Amino acid sequence: MNDSFSCHSAKPEVTEVRAGVTRRAALSAFAAALATVGLTSLSESAYAAAKTYNICKTTDVRVGSARMFSIGGRSIVVTQPKRAVFRAFAAECTHEGVTLSRKPGNVRTSGSVMICPEHGARFDTTSGAAKGGPTSQALGKIKLTVSGTQVRVSF
Ligand code: FES
Repeated sequence: MNDSFSCHSAKPEVTEVRAGVTRRAALSAFAAALATVGLTSLSESAYAAAKTYNICKTTDVRVGSARMFSIGGRSIVVTQPKRAVFRAFAAECTHEGVTLSRKPGNVRTSGSVMICPEHGARFDTTSGAAKGGPTSQALGKIKLTVSGTQVRVSF
């Protein structure tokens, strides 16, 4: 994992990947098995075990912009479509999986859309919905919380 391009505060709290199987994938399979046998509350607990990462500070993403970070073995784009409104999405374009920036840093935007550098797909900075280009599939949503000036994502 290389976090050297991440914002200065983007230090993962835990490592997510083990032997080619993500912890999330293993927990999802476990949760699905529990739900199958009717242990819903245990199933929900397994899902709740997602890890939380300090991805950046609120000042690292300007209003109206989008910025990609590498954390927890994933590329995540954080947006601030309106003042104090933050969103996070999987940074892989839903057309051919290219990341929305060639390296961690600013993602090209125009108004309220992010633009994929590969073939120009456009994604809404608030919802992640596809707004044009060669895909109609939205970006994957990532849970984001803000505590003071700290932006956190969970997956
Ligand atoms: S990979 Fe993004 S538009 Fe083709």
